This record gives sequence, C-alpha cells and structure tokens, in this order.
Amino acid sequence: MKKDLGNYRKSYEKSALMEDAISDNPMELFQKWFHEIEKAGSVDEPNAMTISTLGLDGFPKGRIVLLKRYTYEGFIFYTNYSSEKGKAIDNNPKVCLSFFWPAMERQVIIKGTVSKIAENMSDGYFESRPTGSKLGAIASNQSEVIPSRDVLENKLKKLEAQYEQKEISRPANWGGYLVAPISIEFWQGRPNRLHDRIRYTLGEDYNWKIERLAP
Ligand SMILES: Cc1cc2nc3c(=O)[nH]c(=O)nc-3n(C[C@H](O)[C@H](O)[C@H](O)COP(=O)(O)O)c2cc1C
Repeated sequence: MKKDLGNYRKSYEKSALMEDAISDNPMELFQKWFHEIEKAGSVDEPNAMTISTLGLDGFPKGRIVLLKRYTYEGFIFYTNYSSEKGKAIDNNPKVCLSFFWPAMERQVIIKGTVSKIAENMSDGYFESRPTGSKLGAIASNQSEVIPSRDVLENKLKKLEAQYEQKEISRPANWGGYLVAPISIEFWQGRPNRLHDRIRYTLGEDYNWKIERLAP
C-alpha cells in the first residue's frame, strides 16, 4: 500500500500569540484559549486531550481522556486506577497532556506530575454520572484482555439486576487524577510556518518563566 500525503498543506492564519497579550500565569492563558475554543462552537469535545505516560514496557503511550476540571492547581481527569495508564502512573508520575484544536490552529502541551485527587472529590464526580456510566465503570476492568464483547455485556446485565433500586458507590480503583503542570507550551499556527510558541516553565520560586521558542 502506498499513499502520498505530501499535498496536505495548510496556511495557518487565524490568530497570533504575542507576549504583550498573555498573562503571567499559564492557567489564565489556558482558560482564555479554552473559552475561545468553546465559542468557536464547531469543536466537538474541546476537552478531549491526549495523556502520554511512560509504560512499564519502557514505551511511551498516548491515549485520549476527557478533561473534567481545571484550576490554578492543574488538570483533572477520571479513569481506572488499575488500567495500563494507572499502572504506568504508579511507576512514573511524570506525564504529558496535549490538546490539538484545529478550529483555532492551536496546540497546548503540558508536562506535569500526577497524583490521585481526594476520595470525596472522586465520589462526588462518580455520583454525578449517569447510571449506565457508573455500572460501566464497575463492569470494565479497564485494559485487561477479555474473551469477547458478550462477557462484558452479560456482566453489565447482571450488574443492572443487582443494583436495581440500590445506590451504586464508586469502585475503589476508579477516580480522578490531578496533573500539576511544571511546563505548558502554547502553539499558535502562523503563516509561512513561522508559528508562535510560548512556553511557561515553573521555577523553584514557584514563578513562571516565559520564553518564546523557535517554530
Ligand atoms: C473521546 C474519548 C474520550 C475518552 N475519555 C476517557 C476518559 O475520560 N477516561 C478514560 O479512562 N478513558 C477515556 N477514553 C478511553 C481511553 O482513550 C483509553 O482507551 C482507556 O483509558 C484505556 O487506556 P489504557 O489502557 O492505556 O489505560 C476516551 C477515549 C476517547 C476517544
């Protein structure tokens, strides 16, 4: 098979990222960009982000998860703590998050350290989920090899019967992670491949250093 994609080419012209228009704290710039993406309207799941971990096999792996909250402290997502990514994080809590928002020709790359959020916060979020999602989280030992789809669906059916009219509490191995950033790079596509790249790096004094990178 052979397919040449050399002609996929685009000039990026929608916006710019200049030093005089950014704040000292990268979370404020993240918020501004996120709002602009939401306003752009046409973006499906603007909160979908790639989280890359270093696996137990020594290979990096990226996969999409949904950002559910961000604050000055960082970025929160929910998953199964016993999944492949959960095990990778147990072994090495240094991760990378990335967003690609083509509607605004933007990319954000975050390096940070992950920790589990407080159990009562995970409880609160689990509680807010629809019943099907709650039971799905219980039914699926995320990342384990399973013999067939039927096994999963039968398990869900049994759980539906078991929990009918009963409160469904959060499984202990399901919950939130907070990624506390140590660097955040904002990339804005510009014409002639002279893109804007602004990187914030957290210093030992907890101040953010701002630098421009060559595209
Ligand atoms: C749009 C989208 C959203 C997803 N959101 C989540 C999520 O919030 N949490 C999660 O655990 N997996 C989510 N997934 C599934 C993950 O990409 C992945 O398959 C799963 O977490 C297992 O990854 P692992 O085996 O590497 O641990 C999502 C996938 C897609 C495509």
